[in-house]
Amino acid sequence: TFDVKVGEVTCLLGRNGVGKTTLLKCLMGLLPAKEGAVNWEGNPITTFKPHQRVHAGIAYVPQGREIFGRLTVEENLLMGLSRFPGSE
Ligand SMILES: Nc1ncnc2c1ncn2[C@@H]1O[C@H](COP(=O)(O)OP(=O)(O)OP(=O)(O)O)[C@@H](O)[C@H]1O
Ligand SMILES: [Mg+2]
Repeated sequence: TFDVKVGEVTCLLGRNGVGKTTLLKCLMGLLPAKEGAVNWEGNPITTFKPHQRVHAGIAYVPQGREIFGRLTVEENLLMGLSRFPGSE
């Protein structure tokens, strides 16, 4: 269990294969949560589809081959903000 505070950067660390990507995909709704709950701004979003989480204000920038290979690292990161105009 952990909280991500508004205005802070939260960093998830762990050795290879410990489940970091799995957790992030679960928070984004790309993988179903087998148990437990995800809350966003005080409201449960555990059953939300990925696009509903985007509307709620969540974004996910993947790694590896899922990125846009022709964009820079910075441009890939900014893609996560593209849903939120003026937030760059
Ligand atoms: N809570 C969990 N319970 C059981 N298996 C899990 C859990 N979380 C992840 N796994 C499994 O562990 C494996 C590695 O998970 P994942 O790719 O998320 O790790 P990672 O921390 O992102 O690794 P890397 O540092 O290599 O990117 C996957 O096969 C995944 O299905
Ligand atoms: Mg990973």
